[in-house]
Amino acid sequence: MSSTDPQKHFLKNRFRLFFFPSFFFFFQEKIMNVKGKVILSMLVVSTVMVVFWEYINRNPEVGDRTQKDWWFPSWFNNGKRPEVVTMTGWKAPVVWEGTYNRAILENYYARQKITVGLTVFAIGKYIEHYLEEFITSANKYFMVGHRVIFYIMVDDVSRMPLIELGPLRSFKVFEIKSEKRWQDISMMRMKTIAEHIVAHIKNEVDFLFCMDVDQVFQDTFGVETLGQSVAQLQAWWYKADPDEFTYERRKESAAYIPFGQGDFYYHAAIFGGTPTQVLNITQECLKGILQDKKNDIEAEWHDESHLNKYFLLNKPTKILSPEYCWDYHIGLPSDIKTVKISWQTKEYNVVRNNV
Ligand SMILES: *[C@@H]1O[C@H](CO)[C@@H](O)[C@H](O)[C@H]1NC(C)=O
Repeated sequence: MSSTDPQKHFLKNRFRLFFFPSFFFFFQEKIMNVKGKVILSMLVVSTVMVVFWEYINRNPEVGDRTQKDWWFPSWFNNGKRPEVVTMTGWKAPVVWEGTYNRAILENYYARQKITVGLTVFAIGKYIEHYLEEFITSANKYFMVGHRVIFYIMVDDVSRMPLIELGPLRSFKVFEIKSEKRWQDISMMRMKTIAEHIVAHIKNEVDFLFCMDVDQVFQDTFGVETLGQSVAQLQAWWYKADPDEFTYERRKESAAYIPFGQGDFYYHAAIFGGTPTQVLNITQECLKGILQDKKNDIEAEWHDESHLNKYFLLNKPTKILSPEYCWDYHIGLPSDIKTVKISWQTKEYNVVRNNV
């Protein structure tokens, strides 16, 4: 057999490996080195790919992350506000000051060229008392830099105050029939919003908010609030236990929520979402209101009770902290960092015909 015989060569090699351990170790080290290099570079490449993939797919809707820690899994930290709930059990963000990155969100929504609608109702003395301040402050703080359409519903267009709006802002005024009781005004609001969404709003905006008029914007109410369906935490109840909430507790009402159920107490002063979602919210609330009327029962907190029932069955995709609708009568606890909207003094004896 010649020395080039493969088997002999192999045996010879084994023989050498066996008898020359130093060579063996050198050889093994070399293999390890190459292997290590391959594994290391594979690790580096896959890490870069994962980070890049996470980066391009990061969801600007998730307010619980900031630019600095966007690569952190959200379960790994509790945002920048560890003292408050920033994520619901169904993984919807609760938007608190300091839990979102406005720059990233602004950039994202500016590219989408969004238009945001805002409906507001002013009936009777609410026109003189609240409307001008509401619109003037909204003009200044609501969705700054984005196109906004105010949908203003009044019972007397001739009393509509003169308001100068900034660029990108416009308004449409509609005259609606007044109801005798304020409870009916607030309940029929659901019907009016639904009708207007179907008739034109759905073709005019990407997101829609519905707000009470007796409140004032105090700071930026921006794109961090946008989502599919958005609910507002009620300032007086955000720390309470669900069994304490003033949900409708009578079985006969369509708004009935039994004890032991419920997530949050939502405030009807602010709700929103995409036009499709807001249409469903208002239609379902109206259904409940009409069913109650037929059964001669009225939910304890009127449209708000029905709204709470709706959001129990159809979880909101985003929740706004009480910073977005604060009542200074509570004082100013340390978890309320920046008040975006504050309640007006409720002069019910002046603006309501019946209390
Ligand atoms: C509209 O509301 C109804 C009743 O709660 C619900 O069953 C349905 O899924 C909702 N539709 C959408 C599109 O959210």
